[in-house]
Amino acid sequence: MIELGLVVAASTLAVGLAATLVLRLLPTVRTQLAGLALLSVALPLGAVLLSGWVMFHMGDDVKILAVAAASATVAVVVALVLGRSIAARIDRLSAASVELAAGDLAARAPASGPRELAELGASFNEMAGNVERLFDARRQLVAWASHDLRTPLASMQAMLEAVEDGLVEPEHYARAMQDQVRTLSMLVDDLFELARIDAGVLTLELRDAPLEGVVASCLRGLEAEAHARHVRLESRIPAALPNVRCAPDKVERVLYNLLANALRHTPSDGSVGVIVARDGDEVQVSVEDTGEGIDGEAESRMFERFWRGDPARTRTKGGAGLGLAIAQGLVEAQGGRIWAETRPGGGARVSFTLPAATAAAAV
Ligand SMILES: Nc1ncnc2c1ncn2[C@@H]1O[C@H](COP(=O)(O)OP(=O)(O)OP(=O)(O)O)[C@@H](O)[C@H]1O
Ligand SMILES: [Mg+2]
Repeated sequence: MIELGLVVAASTLAVGLAATLVLRLLPTVRTQLAGLALLSVALPLGAVLLSGWVMFHMGDDVKILAVAAASATVAVVVALVLGRSIAARIDRLSAASVELAAGDLAARAPASGPRELAELGASFNEMAGNVERLFDARRQLVAWASHDLRTPLASMQAMLEAVEDGLVEPEHYARAMQDQVRTLSMLVDDLFELARIDAGVLTLELRDAPLEGVVASCLRGLEAEAHARHVRLESRIPAALPNVRCAPDKVERVLYNLLANALRHTPSDGSVGVIVARDGDEVQVSVEDTGEGIDGEAESRMFERFWRGDPARTRTKGGAGLGLAIAQGLVEAQGGRIWAETRPGGGARVSFTLPAATAAAAV
């Protein structure tokens, strides 16, 4: 008896395993489910019939076969219906992905039904939403970049035409044209830097360096402009400041951008200060000014590319709106953070951190 039980169990197991392998080869979820239903009814029944036949030469097999056939049919029908509804959802998901691939960025999949499919639909929709947002941002970026490239080009064209028509002497516009060319090349440099940050090909040579020299060189570079604007430039650096792990030329660029902004937003007789302090494993550099400060919208958007507080996008105050986006990219590439806030007494404070050299070496 025990031997028979073992033989039946082993053969049921073997047939089950073989059938499972075959089932996995079936082409659709629907047929796999139907096959599974058939197998789950046929296998135990087959085992029962085999044992019954061996033990008792059972005479009532027709009834048992009828019950087996009926239950198998019910199981197959249920599996088919279930398979159909699952396949229909999968079909809708794949239709949505075909639409997305064909360029319809508004295509979304149903995010309902059995949990796994609902989760799949929801994550597909999240991905599609991100792709749509990314494309919108790219479109806007190109529109702004071409606007800012076109403005100096158009003004140079007007100047050239005036010279060509003999209305003015070339020397009259030489200086203005030089300014426009400088604006254009700065914009192209900034766009190039951002593209390199985006592509992740920014090669930063990080080393342990003191910040004092970087701060001093930035302040020296802006001394004349501060003087012309009647703005005081100050710095506060503690004596025992650790070195930082950074690419000094990039830190200089970041600090220069922040100081240029601060100067631009500070009225005459105001002051701009660089405050450096150790904060745990990091060194924090803040640029403070006595300007108008940062309002709610600016606080959340000023690090976006091409965003400028001046909605008219005129050149009365500032450039293309790329300075802070570049600063953010450079600071993050060196393992730091950057943020802006309004100081309690008014004025803006833009701060960034860099890892202290000892902390970076311990990582
Ligand atoms: N110190 C500050 N005080 C007040 N607003 C600021 C300050 N710094 C930046 N902003 C706001 O953030 C915006 C974005 O600054 P960002 O440096 O990115 O661009 P920009 O200075 O206008 O142009 P660019 O830096 O490309 O020459 C500015 O247009 C301004 O509205
Ligand atoms: Mg700027």
